[in-house]
Amino acid sequence: MHDAKQQKQLETAASFVSNRLKFEPTGHDSAHIDRVHRLAVNIASHEGGSLFVIEMAAIVHDLMDEKLSEEWKLSKSQLEHQLLQWEVDSLDICYIMDIVSTMSFRHRHVQNKPITLEGAIVQDADRLDAIGASGLARVFTYAGAKNEPHYSNDPHQGTVLNHMEEKLLKLKEMMNTTTGSQLASERHKFMCLFIKTWKEECGLTDE
Ligand code: ADP
Ligand code: NI
Repeated sequence: MHDAKQQKQLETAASFVSNRLKFEPTGHDSAHIDRVHRLAVNIASHEGGSLFVIEMAAIVHDLMDEKLSEEWKLSKSQLEHQLLQWEVDSLDICYIMDIVSTMSFRHRHVQNKPITLEGAIVQDADRLDAIGASGLARVFTYAGAKNEPHYSNDPHQGTVLNHMEEKLLKLKEMMNTTTGSQLASERHKFMCLFIKTWKEECGLTDE
């Protein structure tokens, strides 16, 4: 468990992020952060790791995301400065910055060092929120914000359906922890059923 100082730091960080990302329009909003935080705590209860690092990394994990427009984003040095201001221990800051700089799906090919247990857990939590019912909801939010169509005859057009089939259906196999894999299986099944039903309703079945 955390000591009183760490508890206060987590509360301060959660409130900062909640205010900053409340209206973020592409699915990196404060409700996403809350879900990832809860999932990370749940996974950590089975897998272990430093709970403070896991929780703090989950809370701040999207502040530096490249997909966020300037209005919502913090630079690496701004985030470090913020953690210092909250008086987070400097070794913990190193672990947290390492986790949030390398966890994105887009960075998976450049990640050439072993992921820490804490990083593995936060990445699993973030990936779990990209699949299942919450994940499907987020795709439509993202597409709405970016004017992306649900589906299209044009094979070069990015669509919701392409994103689901080409990215989200792969995430189940990319989980790091046993607990993450188990949770991902359930969400994956639900997503498959949604995609199958949706394609049938839209007359998009392959045969
Ligand atoms: P990560 O946080 O792992 O880097 P992204 O920032 O790529 O993930 O995606 C954040 C959310 O937006 C996810 O729920 C993802 O499914 C959704 N999303 C990302 N790209 C697209 C896209 N081209 N079309 C629809 N949804 C997308
Ligand atoms: Ni995220």
